[in-house]
Amino acid sequence: MTFIVRQIAVTADGREIIRANPFADPQIGVGRNAENAIHLPDLAVNPEHAVIRRLDDGQIEIESISGQKFSIDGRDKMSATVEPAKGAELGFGGHVITVSQDSEDVILTVKRVEALSDSAEDREEGALYTLKGLLPGKRISAWSFVGLALAAFLIWPIYTWATYRGVEERPDQFHADTMWSSGALSDAHHSLEGDCQACHVDAFVTVTDKTCLNCHEDDAHDHAKPDRLLTAMGDPEGLERVSAAFAAAFNKPRGRCVE
Ligand code: HEC
Ligand code: HEC
Repeated sequence: MTFIVRQIAVTADGREIIRANPFADPQIGVGRNAENAIHLPDLAVNPEHAVIRRLDDGQIEIESISGQKFSIDGRDKMSATVEPAKGAELGFGGHVITVSQDSEDVILTVKRVEALSDSAEDREEGALYTLKGLLPGKRISAWSFVGLALAAFLIWPIYTWATYRGVEERPDQFHADTMWSSGALSDAHHSLEGDCQACHVDAFVTVTDKTCLNCHEDDAHDHAKPDRLLTAMGDPEGLERVSAAFAAAFNKPRGRCVE
């Protein structure tokens, strides 16, 4: 007859891992110390809490050697005898040891019944520091921030563009459409700083050659003819052809004045 200790551990996702170890000794220890055959990492358990020994009549005896009690089928005891075939449940702190018999062997199944981080104390502490209840739900917050971002970076700039459209000189204040600005104007165009609409005629329509020609009618300085410039550039190749096709679809044909 041997003791077989089956340790059951539960993983985070709820799976049970069972490890079984046979012990041929007539007496095994139960306690927090790792030397014990039944090692219970539990502060409510004494380092050398109790021993379990086989009696000649096939029964087993559980005896406390620490002066601290254990429970058997819910009742606190200092010592007890159990008939393995009948079975019993021993309680040590947050652990339960189920006694059973398999042919000749006494099976001691060890399982933690109280999860480590699930004590009432921990739960209360968690509730103490949470902002749940004070703040609106995550979904509402997320949508509010989306709305806020759209209002600040889309609706406000469009409003600015619409209200100052065709205005010769924009008042000297913050204009929301500058949030989209790709940078300062060139020195030559510095005087147009207050009149973005001179070039950006329509919202979401890129600056066209026609706009440049409004001011640069025939004083386009030293310029070759646009079609000759295009020939000199050569045809786009590979991925460039894809991006050129996209640009053309969005009103940015190759060989613009901007290029
Ligand atoms: C002299 C003409 C001119 C003026 C004036 C001008 N821009 Fe532009 N802007 C351009 C050109 C050209 C581009 C590049 C367009 C392209 O590559 O398709 C551009 C690009 C931009 C872009 C990037 C988005 C886009 O359409 O490509 C923003 C934003 C922008 N300008 C804002 C402004 C603001 C704000 C002002 C006024 C302070 C301003 N611009 C005045 C000619 C001008
Ligand atoms: C509102 C009128 C106006 C518009 C629209 C305009 N420009 Fe100008 N541009 C000027 C003025 C004024 C100058 C400075 C005088 C000059 O050099 O002719 C200038 C200067 C330039 C210069 C500098 C020339 C140099 O010698 O330094 C270039 C390049 C230029 N513009 C290109 C463009 C392009 C490209 C566009 C179209 C995206 C454009 N401009 C749209 C008024 C305009």
